[in-house]
Amino acid sequence: MKLWVCAVPLVVLLSALANAASIGQDERVRYDNYSVYKVKYANALQRSVLLQLDEESNDFNLWHEASDQVHVMVSPKAKLEFEARMSQMNASAEVLIENVQSLIQDGSDGALRDSSFGWTSYHTLEKIEAWLDEILASYPEIVTGFLVGQSYEGRDIRGIKISYKSGNPGVFIESNIHAREWITSATATWFINELLTSSDAAVRDLAENHDWYIVPVFNVDGFVYSHVKDRMWRKSRSPSAGSTCIGVDLNRNYDSHWMENGGASDNPCAETYAGLSAFSEPETKALSEYISGIKDKVNVLFAFHSYSQVLLSPYGHTDEEFPDNYDDLLQVAKAYADAVNSLQYGTTYRYGSSAEVLYIASGCTNDWAYVKADIEISYTIEFRDTGHHGFLLPPTHIIPNAEETLAGITALLAESRELGYLELKYDL
Ligand SMILES: *[C@@H]1O[C@H](CO)[C@@H](O)[C@H](O)[C@H]1NC(C)=O
Ligand SMILES: *[C@@H]1O[C@H](CO)[C@@H](O)[C@H](O)[C@H]1NC(C)=O
Ligand SMILES: [Zn+2]
Repeated sequence: MKLWVCAVPLVVLLSALANAASIGQDERVRYDNYSVYKVKYANALQRSVLLQLDEESNDFNLWHEASDQVHVMVSPKAKLEFEARMSQMNASAEVLIENVQSLIQDGSDGALRDSSFGWTSYHTLEKIEAWLDEILASYPEIVTGFLVGQSYEGRDIRGIKISYKSGNPGVFIESNIHAREWITSATATWFINELLTSSDAAVRDLAENHDWYIVPVFNVDGFVYSHVKDRMWRKSRSPSAGSTCIGVDLNRNYDSHWMENGGASDNPCAETYAGLSAFSEPETKALSEYISGIKDKVNVLFAFHSYSQVLLSPYGHTDEEFPDNYDDLLQVAKAYADAVNSLQYGTTYRYGSSAEVLYIASGCTNDWAYVKADIEISYTIEFRDTGHHGFLLPPTHIIPNAEETLAGITALLAESRELGYLELKYDL
């Protein structure tokens, strides 16, 4: 049986989306009348039928999988067949998104219309980097830029460090490893802005008593591709020998139980393709080296993803073994979830190990950070929503989602401090 997931809503997709949807030279891929269905399955047989469906044709495309349901995008020509097969196997299918293309047009392209930086639309990599340059110029005493390395296509992968004083515990944020998860970089940039500009006492405490290492857009090649060509692109952009399919799932490429237990795919056309070997990709190799170089300074790591509103801790590669500090990991996640839930939006987050809450996924960032870089509080956070917009979360959600992230991280770090996880790991 094949398993997906990770810290990620799973997705499978067997083949290049570019083949699945209509595309012309120099045009964006369109998803006119493609629908996303939520299928609740009752047993392993139904589940395997659903996954099989995804593998047998480009008309089906898995967006998300959890322990009781999958979300699958279906092309217009396959809808009748799909509905018939669902009713044949007595699985209840509900339409989450009627027309995927209409969500792409309704605002996710806001960056194309809006020339200022802000959090009412999603921005291109170029605009995000220009904004980072402004931040670096405005706060030279507090903010320093760092270069993680270069992507496959030769782009710089940039991060910034925010530090108000020496002797702070460190928090690392990896964001937008999956290209289409635009809410992650929008949230990361809002969060940076709050750390630097908010006068709220709790935010000042958060900003000034922790060192922040933030990479707002990690998968730069995929992110650019998701803006200019295919909004639903997930992976990196490196080619595979012997295949026409492009890209590696960077969140399956880390050297931590790489490709174990079926937690990733060896098919270059799969959305969870793990690459030829652990750290075969320049992006993951560079980030792992960067983090390894500062690991004594990092107490906590977050990997930002969407969607499904869950916090996922190690391990992803097995649900039969748990980290030594699993109870503490659950306790800090509960603090996050409670803090988010207490805001006016009432949003709920679930939490637990990746393998337990979703499915087996190996080679993910947060597992590697935990296992290989000794970062004992290490979480994947899957942001809004639970499927009504999925990866196409309207820009009106950016600020609410970011406010939730700020409240959640504040509470998680306070709880981590209580439990002793923010003690310095190095001599001053
Ligand atoms: C989408 O479906 C609507 C309603 O059935 C139809 O009128 C329209 O032509 C379809 N659009 C495309 C691009 O196929
Ligand atoms: C189909 O599902 C319904 C409701 O979920 C259930 O009552 C019924 O027994 C199921 N039938 C079969 C053949 O599984
Ligand atoms: Zn993701």
